Amino acid sequence: MKKNILITGGAGFIGSHVVRLFVNKYPKYKIINLDALTYAGNLENLSDLEDSDNYSFVKADINDQEVLEKIFRTYDITDVIHLAAESHVDRSIHDPLAFVKTNIIGTVNLLNVAKSYWKEDLSKHLFYHISTDEVYGSLGRDGLFTESTAYDPNSPYSASKASSDHFVRAYNETYGLQVVISNCSNNYGPNQFPEKLIPLFIHNIKERKSLPVYGDGQYTRDWLYVVDHARAIDLVFHDGKKGATYNIGGFNEWTNLDLIHVLCKKMDQKLGREPGSSAALITYVIDRPGHDKRYAIDATKINKELNWSPSLQFEEGLEKTIDWYLENADWLENITSGSYVEYYKKQYKSE
Ligand code: NAD
Ligand code: DAU
Repeated sequence: MKKNILITGGAGFIGSHVVRLFVNKYPKYKIINLDALTYAGNLENLSDLEDSDNYSFVKADINDQEVLEKIFRTYDITDVIHLAAESHVDRSIHDPLAFVKTNIIGTVNLLNVAKSYWKEDLSKHLFYHISTDEVYGSLGRDGLFTESTAYDPNSPYSASKASSDHFVRAYNETYGLQVVISNCSNNYGPNQFPEKLIPLFIHNIKERKSLPVYGDGQYTRDWLYVVDHARAIDLVFHDGKKGATYNIGGFNEWTNLDLIHVLCKKMDQKLGREPGSSAALITYVIDRPGHDKRYAIDATKINKELNWSPSLQFEEGLEKTIDWYLENADWLENITSGSYVEYYKKQYKSE
């Protein structure tokens, strides 16, 4: 069947890698990238696709029902891969309503438009919702998040994502909309906005600015290279069981401090600086309120059912990421000279 796939949030970090994979791998599909181009959306992320025949970009907000209806009609949308979201935990602490608006109301708006446009035969269409491991809350020293772990979100961001997951599932149960959900761990790689740990610290080391470590730095995250997440999304979209959830993770846990030390060492080498000079920038700052102690994904289900596993070792992925940021200084410069500067001052109470 010919597919006209609406990918929301395609100008953001993960979305841009998903759009690129689908446009290049599936020339017969038409990919429509819908993005509001908030501070996190950047069309520079997709400049290599501008001339592709099977790719279109539409600037729109998922809260705008009329515009969404028009897009569904104009492109005869057959499937949705929904990534558009407010995605940064610290911002959600400053402004929870922005997260309610996009992540919950925006998602329900999109579900309504899809359900209505596909009403003749819901079985022919798929609404794929991209979510996060943060919906499961925080782990202690042991254990892993599985698909049956109870939801227990702690931040306004994770609460909004949990709510959107529930709505997606409810549209499946109540209206018969075909859905699939995946919950992924921390992504890293090219094009990530420098408010998230890895790109922020790469940028600050370059600029010899302090590295703000929250609390004691003994928080654990499970890191996955973004292209491996995009590969997983491709598999779940095509072969995932309808109505199911898939956890996606890197089998790759690091405490923040251990990760930061590896990053500092690599940055010293890449920048030809004295060993230890990046680590000397580490500064312990006040902790994130409600900071989740540990995330770790059990990705056995997607591994067994869809034969997915991460392709890159962490150190290799980190090297590629650092190289990309150093080679794309303009990308970072364009971003950090914009509204991000105001956010940085507010978050870190700095100059
Ligand atoms: P991002 O912040 O880099 O990108 C989000 C994109 O959504 C941006 O391009 C932005 O312009 C767009 N957007 C925001 N509000 C919109 C609106 N109202 N209408 C239309 N577009 C809007 O986020 P990301 O890190 O790429 O995350 C993408 C998705 O993956 C999110 O749903 C996030 O919850 C989820 N996720 C992220 C991670 C991670 O580590 N980054 C891990 C698991 C899941
Ligand atoms: O687990 C998936 C989630 O990963 C995604 O759903 C989110 O969209 C994504 O932002 C990410 O959330 P985190 O809160 O884990 O990522 P962040 O990069 O903000 O922080 C990673 C860890 O580093 C976390 O323990 C907080 C810490 N940190 C972060 C920043 C920005 C610091 O110590 N200092 C910082 O300045």
